Amino acid sequence: MSRILVTGATGNVGRHVVTRLAEAGLRVRALVRDPARARLPEGVEVVRGDLTAPETLAPALDDVEIVFLVWPGFAAKTAQPVIDLIAAHARRIVYLSAHVSDTDEPVTFHQELERSIRHSGLNWTFLRPGGFAANTLGWADQIREGVVRWPYGRASRALIHERDIAAVAVHVLTSAGHGGAAYALSGPERLTQAEQVAVIGEVIGREVRWEDQPPQEARERLLAAWGDATFVDGALAAWSTFVDTPEEVTDTVEKLLGRPALTFRQWAEDHETDFR
Ligand SMILES: NC(=O)c1ccc[n+]([C@@H]2O[C@H](COP(=O)([O-])OP(=O)(O)OC[C@H]3O[C@@H](n4cnc5c(N)ncnc54)[C@H](OP(=O)(O)O)[C@@H]3O)[C@@H](O)[C@H]2O)c1
Repeated sequence: MSRILVTGATGNVGRHVVTRLAEAGLRVRALVRDPARARLPEGVEVVRGDLTAPETLAPALDDVEIVFLVWPGFAAKTAQPVIDLIAAHARRIVYLSAHVSDTDEPVTFHQELERSIRHSGLNWTFLRPGGFAANTLGWADQIREGVVRWPYGRASRALIHERDIAAVAVHVLTSAGHGGAAYALSGPERLTQAEQVAVIGEVIGREVRWEDQPPQEARERLLAAWGDATFVDGALAAWSTFVDTPEEVTDTVEKLLGRPALTFRQWAEDHETDFR
């Protein structure tokens, strides 16, 4: 039986991928930076490694056939050596990308990674989700206070449950016929940011108000919180775009899994305790 290496194994998506593969009795190895803090299910082999230090990755890649790759952060500095290493050990790669277009002139780090992977000789599949429902966890403190003050309340998004991304990943990792596919993934419906907050309020049984924050004020606050100006400006530009051009809804989850994608309300119910 082939061994699957999962990176980002402690994150939103990777944790579900690892758990599902282990439950299915597959040989799964998790790459983590700190095994003592990983808290992964029994049966998962945990190996230390850091994607920003390619020289640490050889033990994790030993005897691996397929890699599920999550690229953390924004810098792609070590991406090429990491892809080269994976190609030297494994046969297939499933890359958690984002909703980007094909290009050989990358602008984003996901496009850069995709280009390296396309030229690596690996059998590849790209998962290209839009916004994660889990991003709304960033509002948890404000939701507890009863008011979310954030820019672009009318930005309309088709947020996806991390469990759906993981289910698609497991399906692709464990079945044939996905080589060269780039799957655009989304939730099943669109909700504006203000509507997302209302749904969370309904689920936790409290009234939560939306207050539109001027973008310039939001920029200053997000810069202080996130640090990276390119990322902050990219996020603000995307939300502004989603006011007039709502995020695309795709039927890829349903086509691949044979069941509808999970709704934002289902996501909120799964995360109820995170907002209390
Ligand atoms: N949020 C969105 O709306 C969205 C949309 C589309 C695509 N994406 C993409 O999804 C990916 C994030 O997925 P996620 O939300 O599941 O992850 P996440 O919850 O943000 O967790 C990041 C994971 O990466 C690991 N990690 C961080 N630095 C690392 C390093 N130097 N070496 C090895 N592992 C490292 C972390 O492990 P430890 O900290 O435990 O070591 C953790 O498991 C990103 O590439 C993002 O661009 C996100």
